[in-house]
Amino acid sequence: MRETITFILNNQIERVSGLPGDTTLLNWLRQTRRLTGSKEGCGEGDCGACTVVVARRGDDGVTRWHPVNACIQFMGMLEGVSVTTIEGIRPTDGVPELHPCQQVMVDRHGSQCGFCTPGFVMSMFAAWCNGEGLEPDRVDTTLAGNLCRCTGYRPIAEAASSLTHDALLPFYERQRRATEATLMSEIAHDDTVMLTDGQRSFIAPASADAFASLYARDSDCTIVSGATDVGLWVTKQNRHLPTMLWTGRVAGFDRVTQIGAQWRIGPAVTHEAGLAALAEGRPDLGEVMRRFGSLQVRSSGTICGNIANGSPIGDLPPMLIALASEVELSGAGTSRRLPLEDFFIEYGRQDREVGEYVAALLVPSAAAPFFRAYKISKRFDQDISAVMGAFNISVSDGHITSARLAFGGMAATPKRASAAEAALMGAPLTEKSFARAAAALDQDFAPISDMRASADYRMQVARNLILKYGMDCAGDPVPRLAGYDSPLVGTLAGAAE
Ligand SMILES: Cc1cc2nc3c(=O)[nH]c(=O)nc-3n(C[C@H](O)[C@H](O)[C@H](O)COP(=O)(O)OP(=O)(O)OC[C@H]3O[C@@H](n4cnc5c(N)ncnc54)[C@H](O)[C@@H]3O)c2cc1C
Ligand code: FES
Ligand code: FES
Repeated sequence: MRETITFILNNQIERVSGLPGDTTLLNWLRQTRRLTGSKEGCGEGDCGACTVVVARRGDDGVTRWHPVNACIQFMGMLEGVSVTTIEGIRPTDGVPELHPCQQVMVDRHGSQCGFCTPGFVMSMFAAWCNGEGLEPDRVDTTLAGNLCRCTGYRPIAEAASSLTHDALLPFYERQRRATEATLMSEIAHDDTVMLTDGQRSFIAPASADAFASLYARDSDCTIVSGATDVGLWVTKQNRHLPTMLWTGRVAGFDRVTQIGAQWRIGPAVTHEAGLAALAEGRPDLGEVMRRFGSLQVRSSGTICGNIANGSPIGDLPPMLIALASEVELSGAGTSRRLPLEDFFIEYGRQDREVGEYVAALLVPSAAAPFFRAYKISKRFDQDISAVMGAFNISVSDGHITSARLAFGGMAATPKRASAAEAALMGAPLTEKSFARAAAALDQDFAPISDMRASADYRMQVARNLILKYGMDCAGDPVPRLAGYDSPLVGTLAGAAE
């Protein structure tokens, strides 16, 4: 096992050892390397002031540049990747003096106090490198993870959308990418690495066998995937985690594969990487995923992490339950599957034996024409749900033959509304049937009041979502906010045929 992590920082090889395993990239950049261009605003992944760009080469050999919140990125997660900070984007040949992503912010008056500016520029830089995300209709999604408190978003959005994705890259960028690719190849290896000061360790195994045997040996350790939850335990709760075991470097854990009629989503598949497969044939899932956190959060956070954390307000569990997904759990030499709804037992308790980890999610791949999902949150982007409803029915001869209605935010776990489902079974596909299902929700849930919503609000909204779904299914046009592939006014009329 190597006790040194090796990565690229602004196109130079860095070797780091002897640090506590829970050291964040932002603290290391600012306090050790004195690279203070990346700012600390919230320290919890919300404001984007700390955004840096992490380049990774996929199995297909294609490099992608991901915007990442450095404040909740552990140093051990950098093994083998290339990190670019605001200090690293300046063209090396001095012509032009500023990078185009910086120059547009000057030209379009996109900066006042400047605190948020490096973060915005790095989000633009990632999109500029990837050659997508700067189109006027995509800029909001690209920048949703960056907050500005003084300039106003219009000039910033205009600055971003005035950047062009030139097919012919400038010389300095071609040079930068060539160096980045060479250095990434140079430092690649298949050893397990550990970053430790002897008290707190971050371990990054490279194979599934190494991961399984390390976990079998110490099942009290904290499994980390994207750290978009675990990072906050450290930065906000000041928790000290003696040992962290990372899924993110394990070969094959980042794969989405189609096996029979299911997508198999590995433990290290990020929201961004899994979105296209999951959203195929169910645009609502894609739209909720697009609104999940921000691009920074979706580029690190994983689909399996959103299940494993057992949160009652996670966005994916209700949608994946409505689609009849399964979870695969592996332990020392064991593997089992269970329906996803059975995984959540009670608040903070899942059906996961000591030594087991979430090895995959298995999601039906068939299109689901009656699948709908509604995320109710105070802010459209970058907010956790107060209530999340995901519904899926089958229809034959104008009657409902199966119903899966799942909610988040209504109970201590993500949960199916079995009384409401029973009210729909065999019923005609009319709005009246859905009104009866909405009335049955009292038997399914007794929600609580908290800072996100009152119990009354939650129940009212949940009922209304079922009514809205009923209108949609019965062919009554329902206004929907524009989003991922979905028309402004959507209807499911015709899906029953
Ligand atoms: C700014 C911000 C916005 C967010 N917005 C949303 C949102 O809109 N909707 C939403 O639902 N969530 C949101 N989240 C929460 C979080 O991003 C998600 O829950 C995410 O999917 C967690 O995945 P992760 O890979 O980062 O998990 P991690 O932080 O790595 O881990 C989370 C938990 O799961 C465990 N774990 C992880 N992987 C495994 C595994 N394979 N086996 C066993 N245990 C495992 C960890 O030990 C830990 O307990 C947000 C978070 C932030 C910081
Ligand atoms: S400091 Fe706010 S997202 Fe990192
Ligand atoms: S320019 Fe001041 S916060 Fe954005």
